Amino acid sequence: MAAALELSRQSEADRKRREEEAFEAEVARAMAESRREERCHPPYPLKIEFPLLGVSEFVGLWRGVEARIGHATSVMEKSSLVKEGNARVSSRSQEKAQYGRLLFGATQKVIEILDIKRDETFVDIGSGIGNVVMQVACTVGCASRGLELMPDRVFVGSRILTDLEYLVSERGWGMGDCDFKQGNLTHEKKYCDIADAAFVNNFEEVFGARSAKTGSDSLDRHVASIFAAMRPGSRMLTLEPLTSLGLSRKEANLRRKDKKNDLASFFEVSEHSLSPARYEWHDEDVEPVASWSTKSSEITAYLYLRTEQHSEDGPMYLCSNHRCQGFVAPTLALDDETRMLVDRCVYCDTPRRIPRQSSSSSSSLSGRKRAAAAAAAPPS
Ligand SMILES: C[S@@+](CC[C@H](N)C(=O)[O-])C[C@H]1O[C@@H](n2cnc3c(N)ncnc32)[C@H](O)[C@@H]1O
Repeated sequence: MAAALELSRQSEADRKRREEEAFEAEVARAMAESRREERCHPPYPLKIEFPLLGVSEFVGLWRGVEARIGHATSVMEKSSLVKEGNARVSSRSQEKAQYGRLLFGATQKVIEILDIKRDETFVDIGSGIGNVVMQVACTVGCASRGLELMPDRVFVGSRILTDLEYLVSERGWGMGDCDFKQGNLTHEKKYCDIADAAFVNNFEEVFGARSAKTGSDSLDRHVASIFAAMRPGSRMLTLEPLTSLGLSRKEANLRRKDKKNDLASFFEVSEHSLSPARYEWHDEDVEPVASWSTKSSEITAYLYLRTEQHSEDGPMYLCSNHRCQGFVAPTLALDDETRMLVDRCVYCDTPRRIPRQSSSSSSSLSGRKRAAAAAAAPPS
């Protein structure tokens, strides 16, 4: 009996290995082909004016893409193409680039919270295989962009996009324009400037303690600087709070005992919940939030809104030191040259205040838990 069980376990493992090898071989073939012919175009031009796809229709098309490629997304994710980067990357600014995917239902919630409009531009900063980018393009119809460090993740995403565009146009539907850029968010801040709405899946410190390199600014700090440079009215949703932004306008004004000084800070923040839920496209009881999470876990998302300020110069803030000139005279929160958030008041050198952590924030992990998160297996 034990021997039979062992045999079936081995043959299951062999089957999985063969599937992964087949996927990798197919991608290697496709990569060679795509070097010859940049991109295969859909059979009919994608429609400019088009009815929007619902999430179920999008999921149906995604399954169609998997059938055309011959592999489920979960199989593609087990290939070394997608996994590379989870253990180590060669970058001056980070140790790892950990992968994990937001599932369809939670992505739809992200779209609702960000309130993305059809005439806006969406950017997923750290877009993995581009699933969020493509869902936004299909269900909102707006221009949708993805910035991703790992070239092979961009490659897998582009392969999926080619088939998705094919299926969309074959059925006479349309979708927003999609673009994936391979690059490092620490250097490609300009690529994100165009965003009216941005998403960052930095869950469980993957842009913080779990990827950080000693002596470098964390990716979260770069993301906060990207947000600060976005236009007033734009939004960013993250799965960890961006503490380096400092105090929100509401919190800064509370501490100043001021009512509505729009120069006290350049943003507002609110918390939202992403929870597992029942969806028609999901066979089992509930769909988890993300590819790495269990059915029951809920994730807090942080919505940052760039507020209007009576200033043309960029994001401004007021110093918290009431004896300082900067308490009444606003200064720039973003360094012109480095495009990073400033740490201290230019007048009195007082550090910018960091917000209090909410109880739901996973960044309030204890030191021991934080170390465990840093050492834990990647969320893939
Ligand atoms: C947790 S995954 C999220 C994927 C996708 N946004 C989603 O939610 O389904 C984070 C992604 O950020 C990418 N990433 C990490 N460091 C990056 C950097 N410096 N620049 C651009 N992308 C980065 C990783 O390679 C990884 O694919």
